[in-house]
Amino acid sequence: MTTPMLEIRNLHARIAEREILRGVNLTVPAGEVHAIMGRNGSGKSTLSYVLAGKADYEITEGEVLLDGEDILALDPSERAAKGLFLAFQYPIEIPGVATMTFLKAAMNAQLKARGQAEMTTPDFMRAVKEAGQSLHIDSDMLKRALNVGFSGGEKKRAEILQMALLAPKMCVLDETDSGLDIDALKIVSDGVNALRGPGRSMLVITHYQRLLNHIVPDVVHVFSDGRVVESGGKELALELESKGYAGFDEAAA
Ligand SMILES: Nc1ncnc2c1ncn2[C@@H]1O[C@H](COP(=O)(O)OP(=O)(O)OP(=O)(O)O)[C@@H](O)[C@H]1O
Ligand SMILES: [Mg+2]
Repeated sequence: MTTPMLEIRNLHARIAEREILRGVNLTVPAGEVHAIMGRNGSGKSTLSYVLAGKADYEITEGEVLLDGEDILALDPSERAAKGLFLAFQYPIEIPGVATMTFLKAAMNAQLKARGQAEMTTPDFMRAVKEAGQSLHIDSDMLKRALNVGFSGGEKKRAEILQMALLAPKMCVLDETDSGLDIDALKIVSDGVNALRGPGRSMLVITHYQRLLNHIVPDVVHVFSDGRVVESGGKELALELESKGYAGFDEAAA
């Protein structure tokens, strides 16, 4: 059997004395795109934060293997260097740091951590311009402070630009579709689809079945009360859309 790209085994996590993740089991094979759907507050963003290694969460049980390697003991930058990428539900604003500068620093930090040579400025500019073009991100936007004053859709596009440049192995997209207009949804989806490939897996968290018409998942998971309660093909998303989450809560109980 080949090693899955991401394997989450019986993951339990707490924040502020509250257990939010209650035994998550989830396996994403290399090259596959999996979707997670689940009601507000079920713990989806918590899962993405715990995967990325955000502080404040206490892992009480379980394992997370990235390409066969346990990552729970690693800090966020080490996880990123191993090829994990998280696109936030609410991208953070960094006043005073131009988007271009941020992207270059992020990229070079990763190249360094992987033992590769830093990119020269002209090479980097070329890479950004190329990746930015398909995402409709112009050079004016790249000169502005990261995410400061960006519209909701612009923030999401900037996240995907970062993802395209860093070329991660495992991408976790937390509600990348929320707040996108129809054109932006298509732009972002095309950007994500362009990055699909045998060496890269994705976990796409969404509330909307319509995203999955653009980014067609291999597997859909239903998340409820801190764990995966049902997994199936993309038709599961349609079933959810028509029936709601009620039927699946019983499976969790
Ligand atoms: N710092 C915290 N202190 C206490 N509770 C928290 C904290 N952070 C998150 N929670 C709680 O954890 C639960 C899960 O939150 P989470 O953001 O993971 O949900 P979600 O599934 O992503 O929801 P949504 O679909 O609305 O984005 C919520 O009840 C939330 O209030
Ligand atoms: Mg969330």
